Amino acid sequence: MNIIRILMLGDIVGHTGRAMFQKHIARLRAELGIDGVIVNGENSGSQGRGITAGIVKFFRHNGVDVVTTGNHIWQKKEIYAYLADSGHKDLIRPANFPSDCPGSGMTTFMCKGFEVGVINVQGRIFMREHLGCPFRAVESLLTYLHTKTRLILVDMHAEATSEKLAMAYFLDGKVSAVVGTHTHVQTADERILPGGTAYITDLGMAGSLNSMIGMKKEGIIRNLLTQMPERFVVDTSLPLSMTGVVIAIDVATGKALTIQRVAVLDNELHVEPEE
Ligand SMILES: [Fe+2]
Ligand SMILES: [Fe+2]
Repeated sequence: MNIIRILMLGDIVGHTGRAMFQKHIARLRAELGIDGVIVNGENSGSQGRGITAGIVKFFRHNGVDVVTTGNHIWQKKEIYAYLADSGHKDLIRPANFPSDCPGSGMTTFMCKGFEVGVINVQGRIFMREHLGCPFRAVESLLTYLHTKTRLILVDMHAEATSEKLAMAYFLDGKVSAVVGTHTHVQTADERILPGGTAYITDLGMAGSLNSMIGMKKEGIIRNLLTQMPERFVVDTSLPLSMTGVVIAIDVATGKALTIQRVAVLDNELHVEPEE
């Protein structure tokens, strides 16, 4: 049986998340027998905001095949031109943003000689943006993607568990995996659904463990107490954490065989606070 093993990591937050990723990816790859790597990079830029072409290059250099994103994709304007260039297949944004937005919500990459599709969509429940229906967006992309491959991974970037689970059941048997991102907290509900689709509500993140979504807690608490604007700062305090899943997929059927949570804790990696 031909099997591919894909590592999917949750939102990499700021320079702390990038340092954590860089330190551990090679070892994880070797230990877990990884064939392909997908990370969510919507917070990987400075201040945990957006992403730049240089950071996409950093991920690629460290073995990432595709970078997915989410609502924070637009925070650094310099990425717009990168997204708009159809020659760039390594960075995608949620497919259900208006079609006028630069970039695409779907891509493919080669993994052990097999073509693998990746789709990124964003949920609508408790999210600020007014987007098209994520379910219909995926459905429409799949009519095309299914002509090319059965190996398909979906990053459903959403706040509500119900919406992520609904997407997973909606796609069960049609894609290899539906994984959630955006909450930055790894859930413990990973499983293979009856139709053979791997699922987890959220992959989690790479960043400081005792932060709030990777940012220093003090500013967020002040914001909640006063309702006044606050500049959120990427936390660098130890320990650092990086979480995600490894999914093994049967190449012949596109069905997932296993999904396994991954969590790395690091008590030693010193990261300087950002200027
Ligand atoms: Fe995020
Ligand atoms: Fe997000």
